[in-house]
Amino acid sequence: MGLAFNGNMDPELSSLSSLGPETRAQRREFLKRLAMVAGSSALLAELPWWSPLRAAPVSDSPSDRVRLGVIGIGSRGSFLLANLLRTPGVEVAALCDDYPPHLEAALAKVKGAKGFSDHRQMLDMPGLDGVLIAVPLFLHARMCLDAFAAGKHVFCEKSLAYSIEECQAIADAHRGSSKVFQIGHQRMFSPVFLRALELIRDGQIGQITQIRAYWHRNGNWRNPVPATGPDPSPFPSLERRLNWRLYLDYSRGLMTELASHHMQVANWFLGARPVSCAGYGSINYWKDGREVYDNVNLVYRYNNGTQVIYDSLISNRFYGMEVQVMGPKGTIEGETGKIFAENPPPAPGIVQLINEIEHGFFDTVPIGGPSWVPELKKDTKGSYLVREHTADDGTAISMAAFANAIRAGKPIPGMMEQACRAGVSVLMGHNAMEQQQEISWPEGFRE
Ligand SMILES: NC(=O)c1ccc[n+]([C@@H]2O[C@H](COP(=O)([O-])OP(=O)(O)OC[C@H]3O[C@@H](n4cnc5c(N)ncnc54)[C@H](O)[C@@H]3O)[C@@H](O)[C@H]2O)c1
Repeated sequence: MGLAFNGNMDPELSSLSSLGPETRAQRREFLKRLAMVAGSSALLAELPWWSPLRAAPVSDSPSDRVRLGVIGIGSRGSFLLANLLRTPGVEVAALCDDYPPHLEAALAKVKGAKGFSDHRQMLDMPGLDGVLIAVPLFLHARMCLDAFAAGKHVFCEKSLAYSIEECQAIADAHRGSSKVFQIGHQRMFSPVFLRALELIRDGQIGQITQIRAYWHRNGNWRNPVPATGPDPSPFPSLERRLNWRLYLDYSRGLMTELASHHMQVANWFLGARPVSCAGYGSINYWKDGREVYDNVNLVYRYNNGTQVIYDSLISNRFYGMEVQVMGPKGTIEGETGKIFAENPPPAPGIVQLINEIEHGFFDTVPIGGPSWVPELKKDTKGSYLVREHTADDGTAISMAAFANAIRAGKPIPGMMEQACRAGVSVLMGHNAMEQQQEISWPEGFRE
């Protein structure tokens, strides 16, 4: 059932999903696989950000090493740091955080790295090639602009920025620059999502007629806040410093923190940006002083008539997270990493018979058939997009891509466009919910 796509996968793409270069042998294998995948994809026009990996094979030689710094070493910054420390050809030379417990914890992990509490001082450090920015959203633009002004290559965590104006300012500052800019949308480097795109362009699900994405959790989305701690300034309290994503001065809540990933995938797969969007948001469960919505529902309109439907809530996790790409011939689920044929080959007779006895009705619902037949979700297993499952969601590869692009000394094509499209899309969603009206793509925005 639903096995029509088996035996069709690119072995290089599939093998890359088992990354984890812990030993020297694994590291050599990692470099080999990366170079092979970067050179083998038939989709390069739609993956221009893979080109640095093609142009210059990943090098692990000490003379080619790039020297990087990380700004903001909280939850995500620590994860990026752990990945950087395993990335061939990278030296983590500097760490910056203005919250002492986080800076101290990070410095303890990296021998020889210099610590800073002020990012501007870190940017003045001689010999530093680039920085990774993993600070709260409202600081992304300031840090990117400072880093560009200091002549550094920049990796900025998603979502691009806090406002549409700031997205524009980052794109403008980078236009014409010879420096690398990379955004932290790791699905752009995920073998599963690459394979999904490959199958879509191969016509396996037909034209994309709808994308439905959701991110559901069950929890208050809070970090624990100690009763006392270091001076939280410039934040007014430790609560705001540690739970910045719950307050509108610093964050746009579920849109920038979660939806940005799936909006990036939707825009990328549709090869377009939304024309407009409408939606509703509210705080209907976590009434604990937070300012950002705890559930959001939006519809994005694209100019070929396709819609992207997005919802997110943090009071029920039964459906988890998914991005479902649907067409008349099939469905792809990016997070589960599966493809489902719309009309899978029939199961062998005996399996069908058991199924019909168990369910009390036939699987196929005829057009205009009896109204009592429930048109329930199809219970087909589908096929995995890549052979090996992996804990890496593209972050490890994206670190290697950043380092290699710096080594190649050229901006990464297509990167700012992806960052802007996703970043602006989620801010349109935020504005639509706040203003309770349909919001159009900002006229004159230059990606
Ligand atoms: N790509 C992903 O999957 C992913 C996942 C989680 C978070 N993120 C993004 O990473 C960023 C950080 O999120 P987080 O969850 O790590 O938050 P966090 O609060 O855990 O970490 C932020 C860190 O920035 C530090 N910081 C704040 N102001 C600073 C300043 N002026 N100078 C230096 N350091 C400063 C804080 O002290 C903290 O250590 C956000 O933009 C978030 O959207 C991305």
